[in-house]
Amino acid sequence: MIRNDIPMIDVRNISKYFGNVVALNGVSMNVYAGEVMCLLGDNGAGKSTLIKTLSGVHKPSAGEYYVEGELVEFNSPRSALERGIATVYQDLAMIPLMSISRNFFLGSEPGKGWGPFKRFDVQFATKVAQEELKKMGIDIRDPSQPVGTLSGGERQSVAIARAVYFGAKVLILDEPTAALGVKQAGVVLRYIAQARARGIAVVFITHNPHHAYAVGDRFTILKRGQSFGTFTKDELSREEMVRMMSGADELDALAHELREFERSEQLPAESKLAEIEEALSEG
Ligand SMILES: Nc1ncnc2c1ncn2[C@@H]1O[C@H](COP(=O)(O)OP(=O)(O)OP(=O)(O)O)[C@@H](O)[C@H]1O
Ligand SMILES: [Mg+2]
Repeated sequence: MIRNDIPMIDVRNISKYFGNVVALNGVSMNVYAGEVMCLLGDNGAGKSTLIKTLSGVHKPSAGEYYVEGELVEFNSPRSALERGIATVYQDLAMIPLMSISRNFFLGSEPGKGWGPFKRFDVQFATKVAQEELKKMGIDIRDPSQPVGTLSGGERQSVAIARAVYFGAKVLILDEPTAALGVKQAGVVLRYIAQARARGIAVVFITHNPHHAYAVGDRFTILKRGQSFGTFTKDELSREEMVRMMSGADELDALAHELREFERSEQLPAESKLAEIEEALSEG
């Protein structure tokens, strides 16, 4: 697919070393506005390291990082956030005992009054939180209820709605559906699709090929710190993806190996059995 517009984020030949560990080795990837890029790969493939680089947590050891065509160097997650790059981690930065609306505005509280008289504007926060969640199709009866009373999926949704409200242009999600049941995961996938419909560029990490295929437009596959390539939906069938991600090839090879193993063990095992039988009948 050839596009003329500039990608929202574009990394080229990014490497990241932790001492002797090569977490990323020359990875290139880009994401356009209004698309969902899925980041796939085994445990330890480098997915989290890549998105931490995108979100300003890590500085790349080598390579370039462009945001809307401009070369950037982020020193902190805050500087990435200022460019509209918001990240939602699996262990969400939310306070369970605080209300939904309070959590919605955590870190950017709308104030009322001035100076020492400034206080959190509860009414405004409640109204906005409820409206924004509603826009995402989530109906919270009482935004003053503690976040701890929400399900995992609803909590993820609040975090996504919050990022969208605060003007995220890029939304990065690190395994938001990993701990969720089928129905709850569906809720989160719907918000991902909503965010895309609003023109946001989404980077979505998941281990679940069905979740990836449901919302993904393109798929970047990482393997031991290297990119295996980026594929569009036309280039990668659901079956191929399921097969690849479930490690079916590895399992087939393993099954073959186990059969071989069985066969070569057969003779000694049988003679051993005869020996034992003999010993038993003698005794
Ligand atoms: N801060 C760190 N210090 C040292 N090594 C690290 C650090 N962070 C990641 N690594 C290493 O880099 C490699 C990639 O890790 P990463 O967390 O990016 O993988 P991942 O694809 O997110 O895996 P998972 O699916 O298990 O979350 C691993 O070998 C890991 O041990
Ligand atoms: Mg990870």
